[in-house]
Amino acid sequence: MKRGKFISIAGGAILAAGATSYLLSDKQNIVRADIKSTDGNNPALNTALHQDEKEILFLASLAPSGHNTQPWFVQWLEPYHWVIGSDRTKWLPAVDPTQRETILSIGAFLQNLEYAAAAFGYGCKWNLLAKTPQDERVMEVKLTKTLLSQSFDPKKVITSLKYRRTVRSGFLTEVLRSEDIAELSHSDPAWIHYLPAPSPESQWLNAQTILANRLQAYRDPAQRELADWTRFSSRNAAKYRDGLTTASMEIKGIPGWVVRNFYGKDDVMKKDFRERSIELIEQQVSKSAGWILITSQGNSVETLLETGRRMQRLFLKVREKGIAIHPMTQILEEPATQQPLNQAMGISSPIQFILRTGYIKNYPEPVSLRRPIEGFIRNEA
Ligand SMILES: Cc1cc2nc3c(=O)[nH]c(=O)nc-3n(C[C@H](O)[C@H](O)[C@H](O)COP(=O)(O)O)c2cc1C
Repeated sequence: MKRGKFISIAGGAILAAGATSYLLSDKQNIVRADIKSTDGNNPALNTALHQDEKEILFLASLAPSGHNTQPWFVQWLEPYHWVIGSDRTKWLPAVDPTQRETILSIGAFLQNLEYAAAAFGYGCKWNLLAKTPQDERVMEVKLTKTLLSQSFDPKKVITSLKYRRTVRSGFLTEVLRSEDIAELSHSDPAWIHYLPAPSPESQWLNAQTILANRLQAYRDPAQRELADWTRFSSRNAAKYRDGLTTASMEIKGIPGWVVRNFYGKDDVMKKDFRERSIELIEQQVSKSAGWILITSQGNSVETLLETGRRMQRLFLKVREKGIAIHPMTQILEEPATQQPLNQAMGISSPIQFILRTGYIKNYPEPVSLRRPIEGFIRNEA
């Protein structure tokens, strides 16, 4: 065979092989629209639960949680009577050793549950069970039919629950308008503090967020925990339906394809990965309208749950204003950055949430995954 012809055949074969392996590869980010709220895997549960119970509980599960661990479970006692629990297999001991963030996330779940129940015409009667953040049974709730107030718009509420999401990129640097801040902090002005980007406090938070991320990126147990909750391939993401996916980390296009097909847990522990994640944080904090801090009265389970609810009430209001929220919690998780925080902010009450905020032009659809209801409801009385 002539040399030229061989080269062109070989080139074609290589290209063909490349195209085939691309076709067989993990080509697309899996997103929220790809999943259903139930997987039908527990027929007994599906028969026992009323349709509106299933819908309310799935809407509740759209709450945010650290690393998207979804640290809740629901014990179904009888129709419309449940215990909401803390699933210890979903705790994050390396970054949240006291389960502070777990309880805040469960608080957000309770807020979603209350709004979703109202949207279906139910009021909630709560009974706090947990005495410490480590207790498994957190809150008992009973739903009873109730009359909605005239101003309550169920459709709008369900839309806000379904479309809320964490946004990590595309922030504009224009500061938040005072009428927006007033509306966002309306019900809780004493506990919601906005620090505009040019303020010294905001600059301090930028620098300390980078430092805290550097400390955490080189703290092996924290980095390993992150690796354990990262779902690199679509197959794994679809299997677990929790954790951080390429879509939720906003890694799109070719970089997303590379991560889905060639990355694994061990890569997270490499220096290159750690350094690149710190660079990403530097880029993120360089663009924002500043920060929102959410404080609490104390650190009891009751106040942490209320603070998680407070954060979620705010989070559910921002989308319609074109405002993005990005919780960045590392300052609170690393003792070296947590310790000087209150003094630097001039705030005496405990700071529970540090949220980067900013206007964005095109609000993206929600992408983070959730377990089907069968994955978190236990139907033993
Ligand atoms: C207590 C708490 C802490 C969080 N900390 C961070 C964080 O440090 N960095 C981050 O990018 N997202 C953080 N998040 C956002 C979660 O990663 C996000 O809620 C989860 O992945 C689900 O995505 P969604 O909010 O779009 O539904 C936090 C959320 C909560 C409730």
